[in-house]
Amino acid sequence: MAKLWGGRFTKSTNKLVDDYTASISYDQELAKEDIEGSLAHVQMLGECGIVSEEEAKTIQQGLTSILKKIEKGDAHFSTDMEDIHMNIEKMLIDEIGPVGGKLHTGRSRNDQVATDMHLYMRKKTKVLIDLLEDVQHALLEQAKANVDTILPGYTHLQRAQPISFAHHLLAYFWMFERDKSRLQDSEKRINVLPLGAGALAGTTFPINRRRVAELLDFADVYPNSLDAVSDRDFVVEALADCSLIMVHLSRLSEEMVLWSSQEFQFIELDDAFCTGSSIMPQKKNPDVSELLRGKTGRVFGHLVGLLTVLKGLPLAYNKDMQEDKEGIFDTVKTLEGALKLLAPILETMTVKKDRMRHAVEKDFSNATDIADYLAKKGLPFREAHAVTGKMVLYAIEHKKYLLDLELSEYKQFSPLFEQDIFDALLPENVMRARESEGGTAPHQVAKQLKLAETRLYQNDSF
Ligand code: ARG
Repeated sequence: MAKLWGGRFTKSTNKLVDDYTASISYDQELAKEDIEGSLAHVQMLGECGIVSEEEAKTIQQGLTSILKKIEKGDAHFSTDMEDIHMNIEKMLIDEIGPVGGKLHTGRSRNDQVATDMHLYMRKKTKVLIDLLEDVQHALLEQAKANVDTILPGYTHLQRAQPISFAHHLLAYFWMFERDKSRLQDSEKRINVLPLGAGALAGTTFPINRRRVAELLDFADVYPNSLDAVSDRDFVVEALADCSLIMVHLSRLSEEMVLWSSQEFQFIELDDAFCTGSSIMPQKKNPDVSELLRGKTGRVFGHLVGLLTVLKGLPLAYNKDMQEDKEGIFDTVKTLEGALKLLAPILETMTVKKDRMRHAVEKDFSNATDIADYLAKKGLPFREAHAVTGKMVLYAIEHKKYLLDLELSEYKQFSPLFEQDIFDALLPENVMRARESEGGTAPHQVAKQLKLAETRLYQNDSF
């Protein structure tokens, strides 16, 4: 098949070269964006008198009918036409005749593909924000039902202090809130139009870039044509934002794997979201959480991949940049899949409140409160810490927990202890006592819940 750029060539392209350089197998993902950009471009060409109004209309009708064919799955893409841009241009010429060849006036595939990527990133950023909100809703609902649910809080995966399960879940709510705000912030840089930069230097045609920006709802145009065609920062940024989202998803998934294990038994995942073993009939595996954790690797890989592609590239466009696509497409798909599953997994999981409560009874997670008790009675905290450490050792040696010791035993360690120490050490009271702003005391958690709800509600109304 004749190439759209075949004029200066005397031989046809080697088949291996066609296969190697073609991107149509994956950049057909951009079909809609490509047509959207072309519709605006040709509208502007018509308005500026670069093509006649009639020609512009004919081209727009042709593009719209191609879009319908693509949406119905009736379009045939060909490797000979290399990429989505030339496939669509070829289809247009086949559909409406030589006038279709006027579409590419005053533009290049370089500013065209950059525009497509901006449109794609804008669409997907919104999708990801919505999906993150679904997960936040699920976290909020579980948190609301678990303000008074006590479980051990951990540091170093060692039991540290009892906390509210709602408090733990809300920690993830705020991570996703930051993720959303990063994505929202990136929209500023996505909403800038490259089209009109031409191949690299601008164009000799009297185009109106501002008009195209207006038609495509971009806030601004790139002020430098070289930068416009060679910038993929916004894709790197999206990959970095997505990598951080995966870090958060992976941490939560890891906790869900731990919590649903026989050793913890803090939650039970719904049967509909677990899988079995082909050999061990008793198994109910948290495969989704594990896979979610595992898929973090490919997203990090795509980030490092694109950074490496761009590093050391001379200005302006280089074919290397075609490698920006598969990584971000796969990343978006990976995140969509993960977020769509996480919301219902959180909603349907059973929280085993008794098991969590039991866990804080059989441990030393109230030890800090002995030190605090003594410090409040005037003993310097460092000394109080040392006294409490000795008491923990004593209790372990006598195979007891701190609440099992007699007041007389307490008094052997410090005359400051009175009967009220036993009240102070009950898990509920230990949790309740952490009343500082952002702490785990139920009324602080209730405040936090309200704040979280307000934030989510504000964002929903955008
Ligand atoms: N398929 C190319 C890409 O994705 C489109 C731009 C090609 N431009 C060029 N001058 N070869 O980067």
